Amino acid sequence: MPWTFGGVSAGRFSAKAAALGRDPTAGRRAGPRGYETIPGVNNQTADSPFIRACRRQPVSSAPVWYMRQAGRSLPEYRATRAGTAMLDACSNPDLITEITLQPVRRFGVDAAILFSDIVVPLRAAGLDIDIRPGVGPVLDKPIRDEDDVARLRGLEPGDVAFVSQAVEMLTAELGETPLIGFAGGPFTLACYLVDGAPSKTFDRTRSLMYGAPALWASLLGRLTDITITFLQVQVQAGASAVQLFDSWAGIVSPEDYQRSVLPFSRRIFTALASAGVPAIHFGVGTGELLGLLGEAGADVVGVDWRVPLDDAVHRVAPGKALQGNLDPAILLAPWPVVRERASEVLEKGRTAESHIFNLGHGVLPETDPDILARLTDLVHATPAGSAR
Ligand code: CP3
Repeated sequence: MPWTFGGVSAGRFSAKAAALGRDPTAGRRAGPRGYETIPGVNNQTADSPFIRACRRQPVSSAPVWYMRQAGRSLPEYRATRAGTAMLDACSNPDLITEITLQPVRRFGVDAAILFSDIVVPLRAAGLDIDIRPGVGPVLDKPIRDEDDVARLRGLEPGDVAFVSQAVEMLTAELGETPLIGFAGGPFTLACYLVDGAPSKTFDRTRSLMYGAPALWASLLGRLTDITITFLQVQVQAGASAVQLFDSWAGIVSPEDYQRSVLPFSRRIFTALASAGVPAIHFGVGTGELLGLLGEAGADVVGVDWRVPLDDAVHRVAPGKALQGNLDPAILLAPWPVVRERASEVLEKGRTAESHIFNLGHGVLPETDPDILARLTDLVHATPAGSAR
């Protein structure tokens, strides 16, 4: 399938400028341009610090964004979301656009991440899945056998037209600031579908993986197809990078990861390679899996807070950028503690070929946004430099 990127607003303006007053050219779609010869790539962001760091090119300071930067820690998010169910908000292009831009305006982070959720493509593919406030994704009739797997049809791009529309609006608005598209990894999606609700260890999912390998393969195969389509839709609409959140992959051993999870994640990164955008691969508690996460094929490996970056460097084969990894709970401590710990992360990040500053997992809802603002400024004020 040819990748056609429709082009974005010709206006060159920073996200901050966009925040202060709408650029008159924002939202206008430019006609075909020369960069369409690199299919699917949003070339307007190619020289941004975030994309450069993903590609392990030099930057003056480490780019920074935060997982869950758009969310309950922001009063403007709570106001925008008031009275609207999570998945309804995720289906509304205007709300998606507004919420995605909120942290970019407030903090001047180096990338936006699409406001959505990992279960959005599953619902769009016909599953009766919901997100309960304060709980997370729930599926009343969990997937346990082949008939259940058959309920999961493929995803057609038209099923998520609201996402394409939001991404187009966002890339026009963001100008040179990259938009990160994302999806859940097949393993993490399976966790919610098989256990039916959030859990610490997803025992039913692991037992199905061990005890019913054919069923597991057919479920993960379908989830892989859905994920590829969902990511391709976002890239085709203008997303400059993608992140695969295989958040719960850390609950399996390296052997089982290699046998039952990695082949599916690898298929996703292989399918995405022709799209020409950098890919990030992240999971929580993946210290023992970092090398394998890298092998799956992304350009950037996300590291949680448990493994120092100068150690992660030795666990991931050369040729990858690292992203992370300040413990989100540190942001609840007084600023001098945050400053010291963030400086340590930046220092250790210098041992990597390239470092994108982030938290080790998502922003906690009780985080003070002013701390995130100061942290962003600190990262930007710290010169990058490889210790290699
Ligand atoms: O990072 C961002 O700013 C983009 C938005 C984003 C959301 N979910 C919005 C959201 C992203 C990247 C996700 C991914 C996601 N969703 C993951 C992978 C990342 C991770 O945290 O490991 C997972 C496991 C989910 C599933 C999910 N959705 C959970 C566990 C929850 C939390 C339930 C709760 O209320 O505590 C959600 C809901 C959710 N997704 C919220 C947001 C902002 C909170 C809902 C609300 O505001 O009411």
